[in-house]
Amino acid sequence: MNNKLQLSKALTTGLLISLIISGCNDNTQTTEPASIQKPAESIVEIQVAQPTQADKGVQYYGLEQNLQRFSPLTQINDGNVQTLRPSWVLSLGDNRGQQTQPLIINGIMYATTHNATYAVDAKSGRQLWKTKIEYPPDTVTCCGITNRGATWHEGVLYRVTLDNHIQAINPENGSIIWEKVAADVKEGFSMTSAPLIANGTMITGIAGGEFGVRAFLDGWDPKTGEHLWRFYTVAGPDEKGGDTWEGDDWKRGGAPTWLIGSYDKELDIVYWGVGNAAPWNAAMHPGDNLYTESVIAIKPKTGELVWHYQFTPNDGFDYDGVNDPILADIEIDGKLRKIMMQANRNGYFYVLDRETGELLKANQFVDKVTWADGIDMKTGRPIVAERVKNMLKTGEPTEIWPAAFGGKNLAPMAYSPTTGLAYANTFNVGWKYTPVEQEYKPGVFYIGMSFEWLLPEGPKGFLRAIDPLTGEYKWQFPTEVPMNGGVLVTEGNVVFSGAQTGELYAFNAETGEKLWEFRTGSGIIAPPITYQIDGKQYIAVASGIGGVYNNFSGDVNLKNINPGGSIWVFELGDGGNTSTISANTIKPPVIEVAEAPVDDKSKWSDTVKHGAELYEQTCSHCHGVEMKTSGTTFDLRTFPKGEKERFVTAVVDGKGSMPAWGDKLTAEEVSDIYEYVIH
Ligand code: HEC
Repeated sequence: MNNKLQLSKALTTGLLISLIISGCNDNTQTTEPASIQKPAESIVEIQVAQPTQADKGVQYYGLEQNLQRFSPLTQINDGNVQTLRPSWVLSLGDNRGQQTQPLIINGIMYATTHNATYAVDAKSGRQLWKTKIEYPPDTVTCCGITNRGATWHEGVLYRVTLDNHIQAINPENGSIIWEKVAADVKEGFSMTSAPLIANGTMITGIAGGEFGVRAFLDGWDPKTGEHLWRFYTVAGPDEKGGDTWEGDDWKRGGAPTWLIGSYDKELDIVYWGVGNAAPWNAAMHPGDNLYTESVIAIKPKTGELVWHYQFTPNDGFDYDGVNDPILADIEIDGKLRKIMMQANRNGYFYVLDRETGELLKANQFVDKVTWADGIDMKTGRPIVAERVKNMLKTGEPTEIWPAAFGGKNLAPMAYSPTTGLAYANTFNVGWKYTPVEQEYKPGVFYIGMSFEWLLPEGPKGFLRAIDPLTGEYKWQFPTEVPMNGGVLVTEGNVVFSGAQTGELYAFNAETGEKLWEFRTGSGIIAPPITYQIDGKQYIAVASGIGGVYNNFSGDVNLKNINPGGSIWVFELGDGGNTSTISANTIKPPVIEVAEAPVDDKSKWSDTVKHGAELYEQTCSHCHGVEMKTSGTTFDLRTFPKGEKERFVTAVVDGKGSMPAWGDKLTAEEVSDIYEYVIH
């Protein structure tokens, strides 16, 4: 799912690879000066500050195009990280969830929100410019009112917008050099992730898997914006793989490509994760459904498919396949292999040979997986559990782990070639799943199922240090609310990761010992970065609650976390421990609440039942499943009985940032939802 559920939606020789990919030596700056080979109107003069030897910027989403999120910087390390203190904070002036990973180019930080691009002096936090994006009032996106960051290439900044514009931006002043449109937002498409530039071609993915789109990857010329190619991630009837769909299912097959891929410059191959089949209900799209829930290896110049591997054929649980495909070179059975690894939402950690697509390892990395009994290493296919086959036959509500959040959600993980471990924010949440038939309607959540979360008492997530070859963890850090921002690991033996309750944590990468924490102003759902300017190392992270878990889980542990986007940057202090006291250490006072009366569904009238069904399809992704919201949208359980007119007006015409539903729901349907809301 796009940000799914938004239901939204983290080797010694690996180091070598990362250097090759970045095309530069560890001790030189990763940034490139402005290129001269550009059309006249896009020539950009950049003031390049003379870097000191050890300075290092952040040129790519993922730090390098292998997406390892590993930094060779060591000034901040496991011996001094406890003295880390804020260096500067900048408000972004935006209350949406912040998932941006800033870039650091020539001493300037470039960051994004869904509706603005920012340039900030990375040493002082002074904003240099900000360019706003205006959206048409009827822009509706499923889940991802967010943006994950920009891309830098030869002196130009690139980003995408929710309504599918791709912008080439002058980094000097934020002006637009060119702008292209990839798809129509009214058809359910949206864009949320940074483009990837590989072998001179810019590649963009697309979101919309919950709106029954047929998704794709696009190739563009970064200099001119010329459209070069399109690869449909749902194979059409006349294409290879087209026989994995029945009838017209492919027309609304989903397969969104809403995160960014990785790139191996030497092999000249791009690796990109492909998302869920639409609708979620697997019985509604029999067949393997290529290339949903797969990783595809493509040639960047042409979009030609080199190989594919499908993680979850005929998926019914929104396990997506979009999670970060990390590239590394590791020794397996005495042989150095070029591999791609992914911690998939379906609960298995995959290692593939990235030259051929051969499956090398597939091991469970979370405690509970009930949809499958393992992966058959001969065929590469999951051994689907009897309970799932039975559920699809009978339509009976069935307990499934993991839920749509997955074993790991979109938060990018990190891989350290030094420790050989992958560090991932993992989830411990299941759901009770009921398949239902659903008719497609444009702009309405098209998922074909209803569900209830199974949120366990105690930890609902763990930061885990995982052995990629076994799926086992060397250490873990449990949290009441799953962490879902992403991870950074450094050669200084420190792992950084932020919590949705606001803390940024630092751990010893080898042992998992918690070394430091600091509570930022809101919840963290973005990956931290590190950079060095004028000989001084900094840690930076965006703070600002939102995103799939906050919007959909109804987790009451988030009710005291306020929205409000900002960028936090830290530097070493003169000594002394600067950790703030953890929200996990001080428990809030327990307030006795009367047991809520049991809501007996068998006593519901047909109207209420119908309203509930419509509610889950059209309203739950903002107002919470069964109206359980963690507090960032209007709590419909508090909607006053008897104010039906107010309800109907708000729903039909829209209100504030809520879209209008008048052209999607009939008066009778709105009335039935009202009966459900006040029942
Ligand atoms: C894209 C997210 C989104 C979706 C989908 C959504 N809402 Fe809302 N809704 C909101 C937001 C945000 C508000 C608060 C609006 C404000 O006051 O600015 C809101 C407010 C409301 C209100 C309160 C209006 C008032 O009088 O204060 C009602 C009633 C409501 N929504 C009903 C629904 C129903 C019914 C659906 C499904 C048909 C729905 N919403 C779908 C985001 C959404």
